[in-house]
Amino acid sequence: MTEKPTTHTSSIWGGRFETGPSAIMEEINASVDFDRRLFAHDIAGSKAHCTMLVHQGIISQADGDAILQGLDAVLSEIESGDFTFRRALEDVHMNVESRLAELIGEAAGRLHTARSRNDQVATDLRLWLRDAIDRVDDGLKVLQRALIDKAEAHADAIMPGFTHLQAAQPVTLGHHLLAYVEMLGRDRGRLADARRRLNECPLGAAALAGTAFPIDRRMTSSALGFTQPCANSLDAVSDRDFVLEFLSAGSILAVHLSRLAEEMVLWSSERFAFLRLPDAFATGSSIMPQKRNPDAAELIRAKSGRVVGALIGILVVIKGLPLAYAKDMQEDKEPVFDAADTLDLGVAAMTGMIEGATFDTDRMYAAAAEGFTTATDLADWLVRVRGLPFRQAHHLVGALVKKAEELECPLEALPLWVLQSVDASLTEEVYEVLALGHSVASRTSEGGTAPANVRAAAAEARRRFLD
Ligand code: ARG
Repeated sequence: MTEKPTTHTSSIWGGRFETGPSAIMEEINASVDFDRRLFAHDIAGSKAHCTMLVHQGIISQADGDAILQGLDAVLSEIESGDFTFRRALEDVHMNVESRLAELIGEAAGRLHTARSRNDQVATDLRLWLRDAIDRVDDGLKVLQRALIDKAEAHADAIMPGFTHLQAAQPVTLGHHLLAYVEMLGRDRGRLADARRRLNECPLGAAALAGTAFPIDRRMTSSALGFTQPCANSLDAVSDRDFVLEFLSAGSILAVHLSRLAEEMVLWSSERFAFLRLPDAFATGSSIMPQKRNPDAAELIRAKSGRVVGALIGILVVIKGLPLAYAKDMQEDKEPVFDAADTLDLGVAAMTGMIEGATFDTDRMYAAAAEGFTTATDLADWLVRVRGLPFRQAHHLVGALVKKAEELECPLEALPLWVLQSVDASLTEEVYEVLALGHSVASRTSEGGTAPANVRAAAAEARRRFLD
């Protein structure tokens, strides 16, 4: 290890220890390198706790005032980069408290009355995650707006809709983009649910059993914007289900982003050439001058693994833990920070790609015209207008597709005499039914792809998600 073994006992808990921790112990134990990110929430929690202690007569007004001022001073030192975090002090909580003691002296020692790092860290993490959820939600709203804008602009643009990645039926590009708006809307709903459930305050649970001091948990809870204190002190310090809920919702979101990213990769490839990414979100190759690579989309696709990995990692950490707090829980932070950062970045990059993407709607239309995508329209028409049983209509159109394959032409290019050689009752009307524009315009069932539906759905999506 890089650091020398310590000879001094720990200033945190060293009262009954004769020697300090080994360098390796310090290395494995310290969390300040990553949990320093909690500093603002840690200080906010301490201020609420201190104010409550004064209000309840547990510490004096003078000590309380000194502590509050000192905490503000520590906050501005950290914010301005003038603060030295020390690993020997283990974590963010002890770093803040130790600096407070340097600044205000003995009164600092009263802040930890009726509190433990166990309820403190659970509170800090809930506060941090609440803000992280709000950040992701803000980003998702902007991404939804970008998708809705593009959907509206392309309400009429026809493209092939796929099943099994085979051209299936024509759809509108607007309809395709609005599918993602729905997915992201549910992601926001899941995050909002997680936020609502996590918004309870662990402070006052102390180490695990509550405290004999006459604290007012409702006061700290509402000062920190929680809806209520956690009902059970053991639960308050020992569960991290709020982290798991965020990561579950985040994993689903990451997978949605990954699917959209995959479509951007496919669609920007020269085989599809449905879209062109903006210069700002494409990369060149150092060897092949012609290349325009969709790196951001590929990275979004790949980074979904980090978020899912964080979920699995923390599930495994929590799985075997008896109540209440165990140091294992310190391992929750790095994955959750990384997952939140990954989601923020992925959402922002996706927004940039969508906003700047230009769609080649002529190419999309041409692709929709390949692969006999209106075959179902003709079968449906034979059922609706000619009264054929669907199976018989399906068979008849199948025979037409076979002819078209033989002649290497689209269905609508088959001469009438060929149509009639398959079924004598077929007339010119068939050509209208086979037209792409007719196909999409006819799909007016609720949630269907017709341009009129897409316009209405986009307006409705604005109202549901952006207001
Ligand atoms: N750094 C610790 C964590 O993240 C804080 C709580 C420590 N509590 C304790 N009893 N050692 O979990």
